[in-house]
Amino acid sequence: MAVREVLKMGHPLLLRQAEPVTRFDTPELHALLADMRDTMAHLDGAGLAAPQIGVSLQVVIFGVRTNPRYPQAEEVPMTVLINPELTVLDDAQEEGWEGCLSVPGFRGVVSRYKRLGYRGFDETGKAIEREAEGFHARVVQHECDHLIGVLYPMRIRDFSRFGFTDVLFPELQGEGDD
Ligand code: NI
Repeated sequence: MAVREVLKMGHPLLLRQAEPVTRFDTPELHALLADMRDTMAHLDGAGLAAPQIGVSLQVVIFGVRTNPRYPQAEEVPMTVLINPELTVLDDAQEEGWEGCLSVPGFRGVVSRYKRLGYRGFDETGKAIEREAEGFHARVVQHECDHLIGVLYPMRIRDFSRFGFTDVLFPELQGEGDD
């Protein structure tokens, strides 16, 4: 499969509502996921949404083992999530730093729900239903935002905490471009 070009903020496809997947376990869907996995691994990302590689479908992948870009981050299970639905379990929000492969070179503080439920399907059509909190919940919210045309800078309230990664976090230099 292949590492694909990641669209950058400003591209109109990133602002679109993505279409639901209607057929599972097809060669096309498996090929899309192989490209998404290759692209995310190549760029050392915590997640990737299909629109970021130019495919306007409701498909996201995410997962964190020990990622040098998020040294404090909790592990997040490697997940394929298709046609996701999020349920807020608790009104509490928390702030945290985010980056995005479509906004390379920047980080910003975004407020997200601390706890949520999510459900959807994997690429074979098997149902997934989980609860998540903390960084796991943050990653899910960030990736699912891509499916409704929202990039994290659009959620920033305080632009004094938005800036270039290499200035904000010089210790992360050389750990990737986003
Ligand atoms: Ni992103």
